[in-house]
Amino acid sequence: MTTQKRSPVQLTEVGPRDGLQSDGARVSTAVKIAYIESLVEAGVRQIECTSFVHPKWVPAMADAEAVFAGLRKKEGVRYLALVPNLRGYDRARAAGCDAIALFTAASEAFAKKNINMTIDESLATFAEVAERAHADGVAVRGYVSTVIACPYSGRVEPEAVLTVVQRLLAMGCYEVSLGDTIGVGTPADVRKLLRTLLAEIGSDKLVMHFHDTFGMGVVNVAQSLSLGIRKFDASAGGLGGCPYAKSATGNVPTEDVLYLLDSLGYSTGISLDGIVKAGVGLAEHLSHPLPSRVHEAVVAGRVRIQHGDE
Ligand code: HMG
Ligand code: MG
Repeated sequence: MTTQKRSPVQLTEVGPRDGLQSDGARVSTAVKIAYIESLVEAGVRQIECTSFVHPKWVPAMADAEAVFAGLRKKEGVRYLALVPNLRGYDRARAAGCDAIALFTAASEAFAKKNINMTIDESLATFAEVAERAHADGVAVRGYVSTVIACPYSGRVEPEAVLTVVQRLLAMGCYEVSLGDTIGVGTPADVRKLLRTLLAEIGSDKLVMHFHDTFGMGVVNVAQSLSLGIRKFDASAGGLGGCPYAKSATGNVPTEDVLYLLDSLGYSTGISLDGIVKAGVGLAEHLSHPLPSRVHEAVVAGRVRIQHGDE
């Protein structure tokens, strides 16, 4: 039997932040910490733990300090938190966070609703935060929301996304995650977007962040892979959403992406069964089942076949 060389794909787990920020259930800090630790146990090496945003706007993330205080961090894992401004940065640093994600949008209407800033204002704010972060040795990731469409103003052109991505990279973001915030994109939209971006930016700087509202998440990951993208965000169990994009449902589930990646021979270092186990642990504390089809199939013990280089 020959062993195929597997090419690496980076999977960033966003469940504890995107997954829980707008879930109806109020999950306790202890459960959040156990969830993060179980995802890391499954092999996750980059994980969004929480966000240091205004607790009045996103009450589910109000315990950001306590989450960081309780985490037993593992060497080699990047524990990220979303930060919208200097106040958020100060809170994150005081909590011992050393990797942040700055988040804006490609549509003015969404930026205003989400962070109460124009795109230009957000980038001016982030430039100050990034300068402080670089001086402090803090890793800075970028996010651009509404890369395909905005819930308030409709379709977004790839050129608008490109400009914002370039400005985030210019301020030293090590990568920029591109959010199809409301999960309306199809492979045709992804191809159009990525053709524009990849003509100007290396694929190692770009991450795709799909929401699965119309069930296109996994097929959009496959389309992105075929265009050379090797970095994705995903959420265990398929939880997710955005309080400022009511029509968004969950992120593309980590389990479903892993099932695809394993079958195509890509390695992530993450165990599908480990992610399912983490989801089972969390699901007890939610008021609904997890949306992931793969999670459901594994838990139900449906027949599985070997994939990849076995
Ligand atoms: P604002 O009201 O414009 O802030 O909110 P401000 O600067 O005018 O300050 C007003 C008050 O808020 C002040 O307090 C500040 O200190 C306080 P006061 O002096 O009146 O007592 N304040 C804060 N308190 C705690 N933490 C802070 C903070 N900043 C100011 N960081 C702000 C602006 C950005 C803070 C607000 O709009 C906010 O928190 N928005 C939350 C947005 C959010 O979390 N959205 C969800 C995440 S984004 C997402 O899900 C999309 C993504 O997944 C990608 C995708 O799918 O597309 C990432
Ligand atoms: Mg999102």
